[in-house]
Amino acid sequence: MAEIVTVTLNPAVDVATSVEQIVDTRKLRCSAAQRDPGGGGINVARVVQRLGGDCVALYLRGGATGQVLQQLLDTEHVAGRDVEITGETRENFSVQETSTGREYRFVMPGPTIAENDLQRCIDQINALGTPPRYLVMSGSLPPGAPVDSYARIARSTCTPGTRVVLDTSGPALAAALDAGVWLVKPSLNELRALTGQPLASEPEWLAAAEELVRGGHAQIVALTLGERGAVLVTAKRFLRATGLPVQVSSSIGAGDSFVAAMVWALNRDASLDQAFHYGVAAASATLLSAGTALCKPVDVERLYCEVSSR
Ligand SMILES: Nc1ncnc2c1ncn2[C@@H]1O[C@H](COP(=O)(O)OP(=O)(O)OP(=O)(O)O)[C@@H](O)[C@H]1O
Ligand SMILES: [Mg+2]
Repeated sequence: MAEIVTVTLNPAVDVATSVEQIVDTRKLRCSAAQRDPGGGGINVARVVQRLGGDCVALYLRGGATGQVLQQLLDTEHVAGRDVEITGETRENFSVQETSTGREYRFVMPGPTIAENDLQRCIDQINALGTPPRYLVMSGSLPPGAPVDSYARIARSTCTPGTRVVLDTSGPALAAALDAGVWLVKPSLNELRALTGQPLASEPEWLAAAEELVRGGHAQIVALTLGERGAVLVTAKRFLRATGLPVQVSSSIGAGDSFVAAMVWALNRDASLDQAFHYGVAAASATLLSAGTALCKPVDVERLYCEVSSR
């Protein structure tokens, strides 16, 4: 069994391109498409792998696009375990408008999964052997998946020693937090949607994160704030890091890189402070790369030295 297992129930092949200006009706002549394996847990596994961590990506795969996804993961030497489904794996599409630097992201719903597909995922994880040290469940749920899919997976695959890490949104986030996780990484918008509150100021962000800890929903809340950086809250600790002033090429995968580097560092017995700094460093390093490309380890190490928290 790998020390870190990521779960991606709704993976994608991410197609990224650029065009000078986006207008309707006319043909838009784009640059050559860049194809990357995608979906939250897949991205986490890609970053853990390139940082040198021991990780397996468990994912659902269907149709011709599913085969492309598998090939792309093989090319990056990401260890994968797939559960084959009847539907076709989705493709997501992002376009950078070069005249403005704006990024347009088109996200497909993904295939509808069958009733027993979730159980097949659980069986695959259990077939890996002893439970992982870290189980990372990240990304949206595909149509047909029960809203409490993540809670069911955690319940059926983890021992008390497994640290469950969650990064998702909407009802799937709420349902997983009802069961409780070890670490959750909402973005500010995800926390706003979860609480139903505007969370307009920093004290309100903190109060909402603390409430998750106090309510037993998560032992650690890593709240990411886009260009404003991130906050880490536990029952005993509070850390605040400002965003690094990097040249943003694309923000796709920043949050996934944050989760990956934190888990990778913690699995190497780094302190919580160090892991948090690695999270900010890897997220910032991913901003440097265009489209759906993720961080380079050399940038992560360089930027790690620039992160500080109070
Ligand atoms: N414009 C930016 N400038 C500097 N750092 C940034 C910027 N955008 C993102 N980051 C870094 O990336 C981290 C994660 O970004 P963010 O909070 O947007 O999460 P996300 O998971 O990518 O968002 P979402 O899931 O809502 O799309 C931040 O904590 C910050 O360190
Ligand atoms: Mg995110």
